[in-house]
Amino acid sequence: MSDSRIPKALHAYVGERAAQDDAFLTELKQAAVEAGLPEISIGSYQGATMSMLLKLMGARDVVEVGTLGGYSAIWMARALPADGHVRTIEIDDAHADFAEAWIAKSDVAGRVTVLRGAGDAVLPTIGDRSADAMFLDADKEGYSSYVAQATRILRPGGLLMVDNAFAFRQLLDESVQEPSVLAVRAVNDEIAKHPAFEGVLLPVGDGMWATRLR
Ligand SMILES: C[S@@+](CC[C@H](N)C(=O)[O-])C[C@H]1O[C@@H](n2cnc3c(N)ncnc32)[C@H](O)[C@@H]1O
Repeated sequence: MSDSRIPKALHAYVGERAAQDDAFLTELKQAAVEAGLPEISIGSYQGATMSMLLKLMGARDVVEVGTLGGYSAIWMARALPADGHVRTIEIDDAHADFAEAWIAKSDVAGRVTVLRGAGDAVLPTIGDRSADAMFLDADKEGYSSYVAQATRILRPGGLLMVDNAFAFRQLLDESVQEPSVLAVRAVNDEIAKHPAFEGVLLPVGDGMWATRLR
């Protein structure tokens, strides 16, 4: 096998050995496509990674920005104890409607609440030190202010996960100067140097920060 094919083969090898979507999540993803939602949810390998991190830290309360169809919220809710909870923020009513309908018929129906509105409007309403973990997966231009909110909302030792740190695979292509890509480059540098966080950028999915609030 040539060198260029090895990373792809390794990726497939790793993916085949991670937890897979169950029938419900497979059905949810198919229904989301049929409902016209964009196909931009995390993958099952990333869901399994996030689930493991949440279980390892014994997370109970999670805040997400960017619900889409509820796929990642359900992955995270399944990693929590029975009295755990995910609050997930979504700006688009059609996405929120779809997510609420599928969460309601999921095995974690009582464990996820969709909060409608923009991240920068809803996050300030969330209490200080009220979350064990946060997952940012929405508008990239908002990430810097969401990271600032995370220093208040997370409890000490809390986990901040930030998706799309590879900027849709355009991170290192300097010819790409789109606002969302510029925002990801800026927030990657910000998180790397942030005195309140210690963590690593994992090569999972489109790159995901896993950082701990000191
Ligand atoms: C990448 S998708 C989220 C995928 C979801 N986390 C998953 O993996 O299943 C991004 C979502 O963020 C929402 N969004 C975009 N801008 C937002 C904002 N300012 N506040 C809250 N949600 C926003 C979009 O409508 C979209 O549903």
